[in-house]
Amino acid sequence: MINAIGVIGAGTMGNGIAQVAARAGLSVVMHDVNDELLRKGMSAIDRSLQRDVEKQRITVEEKRQIVSRITPSTELTDVRNADFVVEAITENIAVKSDLFARLDRIVRDEVILASNTSSISITKLAAATSRADRFIGMHFMNPVPVMRLVEVIRGIATSDETCSTTRELVLAMGKTAIEVNDSPGFVSNRVLMPMINEAIFSLYEGVGSAEAIDQIMKLGMNHPMGPLQLADFIGLDVCLAIMNVLYDGFNDSKYRPCPLLRKYVDAGWLGRKSGKGFYEY
Ligand code: NAI
Repeated sequence: MINAIGVIGAGTMGNGIAQVAARAGLSVVMHDVNDELLRKGMSAIDRSLQRDVEKQRITVEEKRQIVSRITPSTELTDVRNADFVVEAITENIAVKSDLFARLDRIVRDEVILASNTSSISITKLAAATSRADRFIGMHFMNPVPVMRLVEVIRGIATSDETCSTTRELVLAMGKTAIEVNDSPGFVSNRVLMPMINEAIFSLYEGVGSAEAIDQIMKLGMNHPMGPLQLADFIGLDVCLAIMNVLYDGFNDSKYRPCPLLRKYVDAGWLGRKSGKGFYEY
């Protein structure tokens, strides 16, 4: 029975995961490296819940209770009593492996360790621990409170029991778990990123303008956002990094990143977060 979870990282994804877990009635320890980042994470949660209060989805009292279930902490050892731990720190294999090796020594033997990585091999991260059977990918989508999917990724050694416990937790958090096997990009990014990359190639080769490409996918395919607009939203550096994971992981030229994507990232045109990508913000 999972009552308490540890969330490592209070950034975009970590604070979203902490929020939905607390809203599901779990007690949460949210860890990050300093107080300032924790404060930012807690205020993002507060703003998000305040919108729910204004839309009368929750009461002021419910909001207060949800927030009170989250304990921010700069001490990793404060997750020692967690029944389940989800990691959502920087997308860097060395940093994540180091964290998981430490978590492996801190939490009880039966506790499952999960990573929210969008592109790093779950099998490889599991190998940093002594509990590869109790290690799993739990890929939430951004923004976490809104998106229904959690892509649940089985590493080579992940046990059936770990999978079913994780699926139950996802369900308790009000989300839908879809299980896939570990492979570069899993399913979500393996299908999404080549589509975005192909949209960038279409722009690069002058097949259509950015607006035309996006409108075609919106009006013709019923996508809520065009692929170039979505790339700007995700961050072009993130898109490039994921294309490189596919390219290197499969050794297949069909995943080569478009030169225009590289050029934009070189220019510091990273999309919404930098004020310019395929569109201006
Ligand atoms: P972010 O940069 O917003 O937050 C990462 C947080 O982790 C930062 O607050 C940082 O201080 C903290 N951190 C870094 N090293 C740490 C350590 N050793 N111990 C504790 N905290 C540490 O990043 P974001 O966007 O939340 O991404 C987190 C993870 O989620 C990444 O693996 C990313 O690939 C994945 N992801 C991101 C999505 C997105 O749309 N942003 C979507 C799905 C997955």
